[in-house]
Amino acid sequence: ESTLGAAAAQSGRYFGTAISAGKLGEAAYTSIANAEFNMVTAENEMKIDATEPNRGQFNFTNGDRVFNWARQNGKRVRGHTLAWHSQQPGWMQSLSGSTLRQAMIDHINGVMAHYRGNIYAWDVVNEAFDDSNGGRRQSNLQATGNDWIEVAFRTARAADPAAKLCYNDYNIDNWTWAKTQGVYNMVRDFKSRGVPIDCVGLQAHFNSGSPYNSNFRTTISSFAALGVDVQITELDIQGASAQTYAAVTNDCLAVPRCNGITVWGVRDQDSWRSGDTPLLFSGSSKKPAYTSVLNALNAA
Ligand code: G3I
Repeated sequence: ESTLGAAAAQSGRYFGTAISAGKLGEAAYTSIANAEFNMVTAENEMKIDATEPNRGQFNFTNGDRVFNWARQNGKRVRGHTLAWHSQQPGWMQSLSGSTLRQAMIDHINGVMAHYRGNIYAWDVVNEAFDDSNGGRRQSNLQATGNDWIEVAFRTARAADPAAKLCYNDYNIDNWTWAKTQGVYNMVRDFKSRGVPIDCVGLQAHFNSGSPYNSNFRTTISSFAALGVDVQITELDIQGASAQTYAAVTNDCLAVPRCNGITVWGVRDQDSWRSGDTPLLFSGSSKKPAYTSVLNALNAA
């Protein structure tokens, strides 16, 4: 196959990208995105600040731009993200305790109702673990009680039973890291107690501070062995080594329940990492990393 999406589909997987609503008017951007990818994540447009700028007043203008572009072009959509300490609107940042807990529940219900039945998987909870100690990140949501994550997942299951429900985080790619083990233990606990969770999103933002490690495959297979799908949700690699991109792709392909890869942007110029060149395209050109990923997918 000659595109990433079609090549991934040969093994029942998808290959996606983050999309920005503000770039959908740019033909150079949409032509690559439309040709190559078959899964779409809104880079910012379905986040809390975008979708509920005032409490109880939902705004899906930009989220729908991304969603409609994806669906009109035959692509599935990952929802990102419902409960997160970051990109909270001001009104939510100022809440605490049971009021914040209820606002989180209302937010999940409001956003999931709008897209009900139309989202492949939701990142229900994003980045809830501490970067170093293996425990929970201290945040206003965590301060509402340690059960906030499972409440979010139970709320989400009821709001849209058709969507797969994911926990998504960064720096949980390296199996030896405390953060990885913390998330792993939470997922194991959720599965053992029947808390609804279907997938784990490994963001996979690799750079010099958190480089790719060959134990990534162990991480993927260990999560999968808990009975969840694993998705690489925000892949970018500082410098875009073709060899590292191929290794990441092969690690996913090696685990049956690793069912898709999403890169966090189309071209280097679209990346949130300004000054870096971490993606598969430069301008309209396919980079060596693109070819290495495509070849790995076609060899599977
Ligand atoms: O909304 C303003 C807009 O009004 C203004 O014109 C513009 C000027 O620069 O800034 C806009 O907001 C920025 C927004 O991106 C849209 O471009 C924010 O300042 C900026 O902080 C925001 O960055 C996003 C970041 O999440 C915020 O946390 C990045 O685009 C986005 O790629 C990044 O994505 C996250 C994932 O959601 C979660 N995992 C990590 C990943 C990378 O940080």
